[in-house]
Amino acid sequence: MAQYQGATAGTVDACVRRIRAGRQTAAEAADQLIAELTEDELLWLLDGDTPIQAALKLMSRMKAGPVVGGAVARLGIPGIRFSDGPRGVIMGHSTAFPVTMARAATWDPALEREVGTAIGLEARAQGANYSAAVCVNLLRHPAWGRAQECYGEDPVLTGRMGVALTRGLRPHVMACVKHFALNSVENSRFKVDVTVDEHALHEVYLPHFRAVVAAGVDSVMSSYNSVNGRFLDVNKVLLTDVLRDEWGFEGFVTSDWVFGVHDAVGSLEAGLDVEMPLRLVRARGLPAAREDGRLPHHLVVRSAHRVLRTTLAHLATREQAEPSLEVVASPAHRALARRAATRAMVLLKNDPVGAAAILPLDASIGRLAVIGRLAAEANIGDHGSSMVDPPSTSAPLDGLRAALPGIEISHLDGSHIAAAAEAAARADAAILVVGMDHRDEGERIQNDDADLSVLGFPFTLRPVRRVIGWLVRTRSQFGRGGDRATLTLHASDERLITAVAAANPRTAVVLIGGSALIVEAWRERVPAILHAWYPGMEGGRALADVLTGAAEPGGRLPVAIPTDPAHLPFFDAEARTITYDAWWGQRKLDRDGHPAAFPFGFGLGYTTFEHALVDQRVGETDGTATVRVRNTGARVGSTVAQVYAVDTALERPVPRLVGFRRVDLDAGGEVTLDVALDLTPIRQRDPRTRLWSRRPGSWGILVAAHSPSVFDDVAPLAAPGA
Ligand code: BGC
Repeated sequence: MAQYQGATAGTVDACVRRIRAGRQTAAEAADQLIAELTEDELLWLLDGDTPIQAALKLMSRMKAGPVVGGAVARLGIPGIRFSDGPRGVIMGHSTAFPVTMARAATWDPALEREVGTAIGLEARAQGANYSAAVCVNLLRHPAWGRAQECYGEDPVLTGRMGVALTRGLRPHVMACVKHFALNSVENSRFKVDVTVDEHALHEVYLPHFRAVVAAGVDSVMSSYNSVNGRFLDVNKVLLTDVLRDEWGFEGFVTSDWVFGVHDAVGSLEAGLDVEMPLRLVRARGLPAAREDGRLPHHLVVRSAHRVLRTTLAHLATREQAEPSLEVVASPAHRALARRAATRAMVLLKNDPVGAAAILPLDASIGRLAVIGRLAAEANIGDHGSSMVDPPSTSAPLDGLRAALPGIEISHLDGSHIAAAAEAAARADAAILVVGMDHRDEGERIQNDDADLSVLGFPFTLRPVRRVIGWLVRTRSQFGRGGDRATLTLHASDERLITAVAAANPRTAVVLIGGSALIVEAWRERVPAILHAWYPGMEGGRALADVLTGAAEPGGRLPVAIPTDPAHLPFFDAEARTITYDAWWGQRKLDRDGHPAAFPFGFGLGYTTFEHALVDQRVGETDGTATVRVRNTGARVGSTVAQVYAVDTALERPVPRLVGFRRVDLDAGGEVTLDVALDLTPIRQRDPRTRLWSRRPGSWGILVAAHSPSVFDDVAPLAAPGA
């Protein structure tokens, strides 16, 4: 941090006191601080504080404490004190929650808000004031390596969950939403240019960002990729015309890291406020531009003001009590992680074998075979920037052994298929744990595409990059990741499933992975399939809760699972250019007449429900559906009442989620409740006027347990105000 003589530290504290007392606004206080800052200090606010020489150490340092940008000690300006990430705090040994995709499967914004509160507290207790936990990129294709960091394929679900996480974080830290925008290919993320028209952009890929901005998010992180020919750091259309002018965002924009800024002055002009995390492109470019008159002073002040105003407002309004380090991985947060994991697990199939379904496991079984390498591994997500290092992790085998002490449990890693099948044959039931790990998918840190000349190295040659890549890999714990090579399981897993299921018909398959897995090759061979995602540090215990019936599998799919990858949009992990249109996920399957293997929103429980639409009140942009939900089974359980709008005039209707609400009900219980509707999915934006209106069509609505393919119960959607 730069040290200066002169004014006394604590000036920021004085501002905060005045703001709290209502004697000054955050904007006035920011003006006052700016007047105190020297020209160099002003520039200092516009990038990270880490010197370029420390670049390689940065990744390991991020575990030790927040990464700081724009701290000015003499005025007590703390700077933005950054920490990731989406599945928990990456510093220290924090709570590892189920990954974002798993939490999307809970369809439970209230629970997500609790997770946000926990992440905010743990981040703050470890010295951060700024968290990049909110990742709302839309999953355009399930092969995206970072699918696990986002909330799936639907704009309304993504928006509601992102808003909930933001609201949970903000009383403790400034919340940052990322990666703005259209970041959904990993391998070529530094280079790919996404072409998109105004309709798909505003109506499909941005509404959830807008929702999070409207909920008061403090900061936006720009993405690496370019959109319509402009990298995001210099993309004035997105950073200023859309984000500021159209949406009214007042916080600050930071770059994605290291390779996210291409032009020192150009990025400032376009609306990027802070280059993170190094003193890199701007530290080299801005002082020279200031000297020769290419750097307009008002742009420097504009960005400095945004950062200071937002930070001051945060300091003045955050919860005053400082959390102690005891909140980090506290028993309460671990219990929350366990609850979230059970609510996230999606039961895809549970057919009877003989008289009864095999899940929940019959308490009278004597022997259980648990098969698969992943059954015994702490497998809680990728090894990229969102990697959390919890104090302990419960693997599936640990959880089952603890939950079933009286049962003989054998474990085989499945490398010898015949031995695994024999063990399954000797057991009363078999649980197979198969799927993905950090090698198959995730953020790809080492990337030959990265232009290392940006770090000041006078070369761009491939071999030299490889050496640097190797250094980065070996000096940190970062693993392979990248986009998925295939949407199916590994062939060895598929062979294992086939052999084990043939040896014991009472076989349940537990899937681990960050998004959709295509199961067609073996779906009919097993009676039960449970998608557990990456379930976090309490995942093994949560899995045991669900398999034994101590908890129900509460999850519903946040992404459609197709029968064939050919039914999905074009995806090329190495693409340099790609066009995004408005057809992806369940909507594309519906438009093209390809039934999903498991549709968006699908998930079974241990009981059954009926849903009925009772009433509706609809405005231009939002409304309410009143629905009646009844638990028709013999166990307590929960469902998600999902409200879809559909244009019934189409030959192949394409339902669009417009609202949802999770409900817990006792056996036989019934409740009538309101579901808040967001009608954005049936509205369109006129690119000329930027005004929105209802899309023409014969719109109807219905309530369902998942994205519907039968439209008998559609009620005409009321006219606005009716
Ligand atoms: C990722 C961001 C992350 C940042 C800092 C980047 O590589 O894309 O999601 O917040 O690193 O860890």
